Amino acid sequence: MEPTHLLELKNVTKRYGENLVVDNLSMQVDRGEIVALLGRTGAGKSTVMSLLMGTITCDAGSVRVAGFDPSRDHDALRGMMAVSFQTDRLLPWRTARENVELGMLILKRPKDEVRAKATEWLARVKLIGADDKYVHELSGGMRQRVSLARALAVNPELVLLDESFSQLDHATSSVLRRDFSQIARELKKTCVFVTHRIEDALDIADRVYVLAPPARVCLELNITEEDRLDESRKQALHDQIAQAIGGDEEA
Ligand SMILES: Nc1ncnc2c1ncn2[C@@H]1O[C@H](COP(=O)(O)OP(=O)(O)O)[C@@H](O)[C@H]1O
Ligand SMILES: [Mg+2]
Repeated sequence: MEPTHLLELKNVTKRYGENLVVDNLSMQVDRGEIVALLGRTGAGKSTVMSLLMGTITCDAGSVRVAGFDPSRDHDALRGMMAVSFQTDRLLPWRTARENVELGMLILKRPKDEVRAKATEWLARVKLIGADDKYVHELSGGMRQRVSLARALAVNPELVLLDESFSQLDHATSSVLRRDFSQIARELKKTCVFVTHRIEDALDIADRVYVLAPPARVCLELNITEEDRLDESRKQALHDQIAQAIGGDEEA
């Protein structure tokens, strides 16, 4: 049977030694949704991402991706999830193109497909002409674009982004957010992204989980296209979120 939610955390608890980092957290994400995990630094957002990726396990509760346990069912989930992080994790000795190709090569996709997909994705993220540039020749925004292209080129069902937009200046970040959400919606990707910036969430997400430390949901909000287009509605949502996290943390 197809699981109802693509992604589901049920009563998840995680400790590092004595330190409670995730506190009885439950959340669900459906196919095609773009969901933000928003909270201050230290709220446990990245830990939740690690649980979803299966790089760590929880102490209690359950984590399911497409009905599978990401910390165990590696074969079933191979190629289904792609990740992109704040620090772009590009390989400096590879060009933009070679970095985009990497994810596909790891999944042993055919060489000609890899080449064609890389070309397609470099264009989609607006990096035409930057193919042969090495990482140090790219701006921060361009690096994030390479990282997003690398994640999306494997055609994953689920995309996980951890602070992919929030390290950039506001103008660069805003354009990247717009481009990313356009692509994600067009391709109907399911996306969970972590951010500490309210504007990131308001610009992109269909739904926001506001997390308070240790990671637990202190507010859940739906955001519609109408909310995004109406400045006063947007401001009201902004204020509501800012209050929930105890002030607007900017960085
Ligand atoms: N590998 C780890 N070992 C011990 N403590 C950790 C580890 N990773 C995160 N933590 C702690 O868990 C808490 C949440 O961290 P994190 O998930 O990175 O939060 P966020 O991404 O919201 O900033 C912090 O107090 C952090 O120090
Ligand atoms: Mg983090």
